Amino acid sequence: MFRFLTAGESHGKGLTVIVEGLPAGIPVSEKYIAADMARRQVGYGRGGRMKIETDFAEILSGVRHGVTMGSPVAMWIENRDWSTGTGPDGVNWTDEMSINPTDVEYQKLTKLRPGHADTAGTLKYHQDDARNILERSSARESAARVAAGSIAKRFLEEFDIEVHSHVTCIGGVHSNYTGKFNWDLLEEAPFHQENPAGSKLAAVRCFDSEKASEMIETIDQARANGDSAGGIIQIVATGLPIGLGTHIQWDRKITTKLAGAVMSINAVKGVEFGAGFSQADLFGSQVHDVILPKDKWNKDSGKPGNGTWSRKTNNAGGVEGGMSNGEPVVINAIVKPIATIINGLETVDLHTGEFVDKAHFERSDITFVPTCAVIGEAMVACVIAESMLEKFGGDHLDETKRNYHSYLDTITP
Ligand SMILES: Cc1cc2nc3c(=O)[nH]c(=O)nc-3n(C[C@H](O)[C@H](O)[C@H](O)COP(=O)(O)O)c2cc1C
Repeated sequence: MFRFLTAGESHGKGLTVIVEGLPAGIPVSEKYIAADMARRQVGYGRGGRMKIETDFAEILSGVRHGVTMGSPVAMWIENRDWSTGTGPDGVNWTDEMSINPTDVEYQKLTKLRPGHADTAGTLKYHQDDARNILERSSARESAARVAAGSIAKRFLEEFDIEVHSHVTCIGGVHSNYTGKFNWDLLEEAPFHQENPAGSKLAAVRCFDSEKASEMIETIDQARANGDSAGGIIQIVATGLPIGLGTHIQWDRKITTKLAGAVMSINAVKGVEFGAGFSQADLFGSQVHDVILPKDKWNKDSGKPGNGTWSRKTNNAGGVEGGMSNGEPVVINAIVKPIATIINGLETVDLHTGEFVDKAHFERSDITFVPTCAVIGEAMVACVIAESMLEKFGGDHLDETKRNYHSYLDTITP
């Protein structure tokens, strides 16, 4: 079974991730993973933390001479902020986050932050310092997910399966883009204040250039107002064979797994497939994806195998009855605006229960919607990798491929 586990605190020494269940024989490199790690770090509206970190996932096990061995792949991502960044009181985090007991005085975090895990976490885990909750609930952990997702993507590439993402809304500014997706365009150097020559499309991962500019203005406005902004991401996975997941049991449906995986990303508050919620306003005849006869197959991809059976539309978002149907999997997810806002929200003190006019302010982004898209890709890639291995098995990649290709031969009319 393909799975991964992460460990690590936001301002601790670093993050660990163990990816298990990969077959032997997959070419994997730290350089390949580094490209995804870098993609997670950029995005207009991110805060100071990303200027400190240069995330790099060091592979500690499971890979020899650039190829997986079938054993667990462990990776380590250093938090540079721990030793070289600026922590509370202008110093680094080595004492505040020391593993061993410390004599150094540090301030407990008690002004509970609305919209975070602080309140439920401190009460449930019986903590008198919300940092003990914040450190793990922080989305810093998502760096480890992206490392795991990158390996999953590398595996999926062997089957011509690709997972991409873009942003369709930030702060109420919606993309109107309806053209083809040129994914390379979104990876060009992002536009920042320091890099005005970069691409605005890349800065917010949005295909609509006019709206990308408006999104950037909205983020600037939110910053100027001491506020934050949320948005919508779209994850698109292509090349899936028909039949990943199953209709047989609720928890084995690929829809269950995909929705859960995307919902697990910090700040994601809703997920829809394909036409999603808009279907509530439509009649059945307008929604369902007509199945095309054989002579119309492969009209776009021209690829053998995948996508043989074909549909006129893809309102289902590539999933029917809890299984992939051969069309691209399209998932939209709504990301809430950041809860740690510069102006501060009213709250109470954990120790006294008394009113506090401003919750604790931890260094914060203005928006992280473009980053969420990259994390979404990672989570979706992991679910698809798991589903591929559930269906096709294999202890070596060659075995997985043999099983995969012989299955494809059976799914013609
Ligand atoms: C990439 C990323 C970066 C985030 N950065 C921040 C941030 O700087 N400030 C903040 O308040 N929340 C941030 N969040 C959101 C919080 O982690 C999240 O809202 C919080 O843990 C509560 O969880 P929930 O929103 O899922 O209920 C970020 C989320 C992601 C995915």
